[in-house]
Amino acid sequence: MSKSTLFSAMLLVILLSSCKVTHRQAVRSILIEAYGEKPTLLRQPYLQMVRPTTVTVTWKTDTIVEKCQVEFYEANKAKKSLVTGTLISHEGSIFNEVVIKNLNPKTTYYYNIYSNGYLLAGGKDYYFKTSPNNTKTAFNFYALGDIGDVLPKSFAKEPANRITELKIKPDFGLGLGDIVYPKGESSMYDSQLFKPFEKVFKNTPFYPVVGNHDWRSDPEKNFEKEWSLPGNEHYFYFTYSNALFIGLDSHNGGLYNREEQVAWLKETLKEQKVKYDWIIVYLHHNGKTCTYKKDYEHVMNLYQIFTSNNVDLVLNGHAHTYERLKPFDANGNVDVNASIDHSSYGHLKDRFISITIGAGGKINERWHADPTNQKNCKDGNIVAHAEHVPSFGVFSIDGKTLKLNAYNSFTGEIFDTFTIEK
Ligand SMILES: [Fe+2]
Repeated sequence: MSKSTLFSAMLLVILLSSCKVTHRQAVRSILIEAYGEKPTLLRQPYLQMVRPTTVTVTWKTDTIVEKCQVEFYEANKAKKSLVTGTLISHEGSIFNEVVIKNLNPKTTYYYNIYSNGYLLAGGKDYYFKTSPNNTKTAFNFYALGDIGDVLPKSFAKEPANRITELKIKPDFGLGLGDIVYPKGESSMYDSQLFKPFEKVFKNTPFYPVVGNHDWRSDPEKNFEKEWSLPGNEHYFYFTYSNALFIGLDSHNGGLYNREEQVAWLKETLKEQKVKYDWIIVYLHHNGKTCTYKKDYEHVMNLYQIFTSNNVDLVLNGHAHTYERLKPFDANGNVDVNASIDHSSYGHLKDRFISITIGAGGKINERWHADPTNQKNCKDGNIVAHAEHVPSFGVFSIDGKTLKLNAYNSFTGEIFDTFTIEK
């Protein structure tokens, strides 16, 4: 806006301030002239790609946006910074995406979002925390899969509410595939995922992988439009403190671009494994399982790669249930030498633990597990299971100790827990 326009606008405000009848309308007209119409906030801000010095903040508005900005500041510090982002049109709305750089590691910042100069959201409930740039910081993350069911069936708001109630806030979340039902369409993301999770996502970055339902729509035009993820967004890795996280795309159980993806997995593990105390792989499909899903051969074929490259945990969804199995070896045989009650382990050398956490927004009420674990799983390798309990897991890593608490999403009770100490 030019200086003369601004002056005229101010003069008009002063004149109209004595005229009570049209004051509000006039001020609105002035703002529209200066900045354009106030955009409608269609989706609350969400965080992605949180690194020691950068973060991506994204929100969605209607179609009349020309500029988006994030203002951010540290608590108790007067200095505020403003960063302008980019606008991406998709499905009749605008993604306002702002990448903030040159931040301090392991620091909490509060933020406000602006579109066309209008404050759309912000204040003390909107903050992000950059990741640490060392390998000594203890941290937490949550994980769940199979989340955004069609309304009104979905109960996705239940895990979201429990996560916001946790005394220790998770530093980020993992999405174990089947993020939005039935076909992973962008048009379903707001009502089925972002609305129930808006209080979580605005302060906690989320790293989802693609599931078979997400593959029912072209991921390039849907899943990849909704998220900002590392690498090619199908298979990628990121690190946090002393842990390496690898997300895989298991497509329909056969692995997306299988040869390339497996070669990438081997290469990534070879390069990265010596730098980290913990390696966690997550993907949508299970390998061996005792749930109502079949064993997926191409996931089981990865077991040898996992065991020979120090992978500690493999997390998946797909079955709408919770299942923790005894440690596997390279051939998928259970570990007969593991602890008797399976509540704590020492260093699981050449073995890993596989957990299904696929009751994020759906449960399978028709299926009943055989109490002897023999019906679907002849190995009897279940340690803990919860068939009709909506659930999510919270993992904490502190140095050489990893702990899981599995929560009932309705009651907030912890129904399974274990530790690994290296
Ligand atoms: Fe699935």
